[in-house]
Amino acid sequence: MAKKSNPGQNGTTKLWGGRFTEATDPTVERFSASIHFDQALARYDIRGSIAHARMLGRSGLIPDGDADALVAGLEKIAVEIETGEFPFDPALEDIHMNIEARLTEAVGPVAGRLHTGRSRNDQVATDLALYLQDACIAAQRGILELRAVLVERAAEHIDTVLPGYTHLQRAQPVRLAHHWLAFFEHLGRDAGRFADAAERLRECPLGAGALAGSTLNLDRNDTASALGFDGPTRNSLDTVSARDVALEVMADAAICMVGLSRMAEELVIWSSSEFGFIELADAYSTGSSLMPQKKNPDVPELVRGKSGRAVGNLVSLLTTVKGLPLSYNRDMQEDKEPLFDSVATLRDCLQVMAGSVATLRVNVDRMAAAASDPMLLATDLAEALVLGGVPFREAHEAVGRIVAHCVESGEDLAGLSQKTLQQFHPAFNAGADTLLDAEQSFARRDLPGATARVRVEAAVEAARTEIDGIRERLEGESGP
Ligand code: ARG
Repeated sequence: MAKKSNPGQNGTTKLWGGRFTEATDPTVERFSASIHFDQALARYDIRGSIAHARMLGRSGLIPDGDADALVAGLEKIAVEIETGEFPFDPALEDIHMNIEARLTEAVGPVAGRLHTGRSRNDQVATDLALYLQDACIAAQRGILELRAVLVERAAEHIDTVLPGYTHLQRAQPVRLAHHWLAFFEHLGRDAGRFADAAERLRECPLGAGALAGSTLNLDRNDTASALGFDGPTRNSLDTVSARDVALEVMADAAICMVGLSRMAEELVIWSSSEFGFIELADAYSTGSSLMPQKKNPDVPELVRGKSGRAVGNLVSLLTTVKGLPLSYNRDMQEDKEPLFDSVATLRDCLQVMAGSVATLRVNVDRMAAAASDPMLLATDLAEALVLGGVPFREAHEAVGRIVAHCVESGEDLAGLSQKTLQQFHPAFNAGADTLLDAEQSFARRDLPGATARVRVEAAVEAARTEIDGIRERLEGESGP
């Protein structure tokens, strides 16, 4: 039977080959195309193809001259992609076929040798692994910049005191430095999760073929080391089926974003007139189109809002892969949009959060006034009794009665004399004024991880050292 051609929109021909006699229905073409999003993989795809072509030449599977021609053509296409001149064609479905078709235009029929021993299944798995490696480094760098800002703002505010909250009720006073270093810690674990995921991206998928390897003597170690992997993956079926590391990176992004969302929520609350703890810089705020007096915290609100996308993206891909049999299934093409979105959203949110925190103004007096209520030190009174040998429950009960007395009589807790205190418990051996001195209270909280000045100062120094170390390590990584 005469073979009908299967033309793409640019007059190029699809690569399905002799099995097909009819052109793809235009609706199906549109429905199945991924080029509008997987073009983000272009540079990884070309790197993979160059490594593959060189290996084919070195292994004697194609003539050396052909390998050279393929590499030269691919390098030319890489430039076209960088400069935005590459003519992406939706009729050619995805990035892999777009590049191969363009290579045919560039180097002629020899382009037909590139796909020797390769499938788009191991090809896309390789592209994704390389993309995810870069994404893990980019996330660590973004997190590092935000952490660096937090440390420097913390260093400025070691002596700025605000109430620490539980249940959004004033609980005990803390230093603003301590508060910001709390986010520093969370972000450190977030970065650790990305570094950890990168450990599972050390094996090269190329050579797994469609699902079962190849009859050709491909040198998988050669392509793996050319692409910077430690070696080839160990099971061809797993290689083309698995999307767990993509899921892991999306989960890491979702966790980090949820943390950023909490941080953002606080900036929103703190910048309200009710709190008045901070003022966001003009550069990181917006006005109202109607109310001239308004200065809105849209940036942290959007960070809070966008965390929903990161969570949704993760759930979307988890749901996509959950019912899939081994090995490759076309459903898996749905991995890319949510993945790319999570990576880009996280990058942007980290950047604007770093800018917001770096530029916000702290209202030290408002914070201090909110923290000055002596009631916030009621626990200190109970602990003073404990030091005098009183069981904590008994001390708690006595101080509870003291607080109730102050609430009822309107007396200032800090003003109670030793005599008054002793009416509630005989073990009080000083007046509340001494026991409730804020500075002394801080100084007494001298435990690892607590709010004493020396501890917080040391934490700032340790954080700076940590930042320097990570910066040095990440500078050594190639990455995006
Ligand atoms: N665009 C496809 C994807 O992203 C590439 C792999 C296609 N493989 C196939 N057998 N149809 O998943």
